[in-house]
Amino acid sequence: MSVRRVIRLPREQLTPYLLEVPPDAGAVSWSAVFGNDRPVEIEVGFGKGLFLVRSSQTRPEVNFLGVEIARKLQFFVANRVAKRNLHNVRLVCTDARHFLSKQAPAGSVQTVHVYFPDPWWKQRHRKRRVFQPDFAAACEQVLQSGGRLRVATDVEAYFEIIQATTAKHTTLILEPPPAEKPAENDLDYLSNFERKARKVGKPVWRAVYRKP
Ligand SMILES: C[S@@+](CC[C@H](N)C(=O)[O-])C[C@H]1O[C@@H](n2cnc3c(N)ncnc32)[C@H](O)[C@@H]1O
Repeated sequence: MSVRRVIRLPREQLTPYLLEVPPDAGAVSWSAVFGNDRPVEIEVGFGKGLFLVRSSQTRPEVNFLGVEIARKLQFFVANRVAKRNLHNVRLVCTDARHFLSKQAPAGSVQTVHVYFPDPWWKQRHRKRRVFQPDFAAACEQVLQSGGRLRVATDVEAYFEIIQATTAKHTTLILEPPPAEKPAENDLDYLSNFERKARKVGKPVWRAVYRKP
């Protein structure tokens, strides 16, 4: 994913938004990470960060943790949130499959958001897909009772796999999908990839699951 040039803030202004968790560290403490006990939502693979920026602005009462495997995107989005003083956002650069299964405390998360995960079309790359049985089980594990897993993609075949995997490997309950509302401006999309898909008229498949 190309990252357009932006005016970069000094590193010390980004530091409050960056979460460093060594891969062999145990479960994190949300109150230590955010400095409060507000509800926590996680976005897996935040890309250029539209969802995190918009959601943290419109829902300041929620803590948002973005988990992204690409370091340059972690810094790109750290600049976006630091410029807007979005103190309820933290960004960690790691494999979300590992983070959710080993480092997010069980039963602690209000919502997990997975938007437009990479489809990895080539057969030999399929194992890099985020949404696999262990990942679905980890999502269920980290959600609190009544918490939700929200998914969107423009790849119908991947959506079918996501649905089948969730049905087979979790007890999450499928809810009616959210309606697609017309965008009022360029920022009025769920994520950067949703904007890209909808602007060229591609259909978007969405699912919401609730933990019983
Ligand atoms: C197609 S982009 C979608 C970005 C964003 N969610 C959106 O909708 O605009 C997929 C993102 O997931 C990230 N990603 C892929 N595998 C990942 C993993 N195992 N853990 C965390 N992030 C991952 C990629 O680096 C990329 O930024």
